[in-house]
Amino acid sequence: MSLFITFEGPEGSGKTTQIQRLAAWLREQGQTVLATREPGGTAIGDRVRAILLDSDHREMQPQTEILLFSAARAQIVGQIIRPHLARGGVVLCDRFADSTLAYQGYGRQLDLATLRLITAFATGGLQPDLTFCLDLPVDVGLQRKAAGAGEEWNRMEQETLAFHARVRRGYLTLAQAEPARWRVLDATQPVQALQAAMRAEVAARLGLLAEPGQAQST
Ligand code: TYD
Repeated sequence: MSLFITFEGPEGSGKTTQIQRLAAWLREQGQTVLATREPGGTAIGDRVRAILLDSDHREMQPQTEILLFSAARAQIVGQIIRPHLARGGVVLCDRFADSTLAYQGYGRQLDLATLRLITAFATGGLQPDLTFCLDLPVDVGLQRKAAGAGEEWNRMEQETLAFHARVRRGYLTLAQAEPARWRVLDATQPVQALQAAMRAEVAARLGLLAEPGQAQST
């Protein structure tokens, strides 16, 4: 059974670790899993990503930013995500269209209706079946990022605290508007507890047996 799961949240919410663990567990359950990220995930998308996140590109116009994120998204949807879902696989995607609504819409305060149109064009209307929002206070997340092992501080992270606070509130607003698709989880809880909550939700969606105890061992 195919399932398209996306992972959203403010900076430093620990999505990467959670996705890796969830992918490993799903593979143990016999699922065909594709774990990828946005922007990127394709040769074309990775080059677009480098342009988008380059800290030297301070002159980037908001419209350029939206279209570049959308270009990378169109590529990964057509080249990677749709074919994998068509084969009955599970796709785990680190950020997707909701990031554009949260960052460019709520963060940069650009028109949400326009962003939804551009996003629908880029994705051909593909929507996640399930979206986890790993929620945490923005100062905690940015401190985690700053302490991260050698990771470069990118162009989005250089934005003000007020910007990141709007992004976080934006996510919570999006989640409230579509409760069947979203699960908001407290990203300050221990890694294993967060992973157990995710596995339980995914197991229910895939009709697998939930094995929260196993979250301790991986
Ligand atoms: P990345 O290093 O992947 O951050 P994270 O680990 O937090 O996912 O950088 C992606 C950055 O791009 C992140 O700050 C969020 C931002 N972004 C947008 O502003 N709009 C988008 O549509 C997407 C996909 C990401």
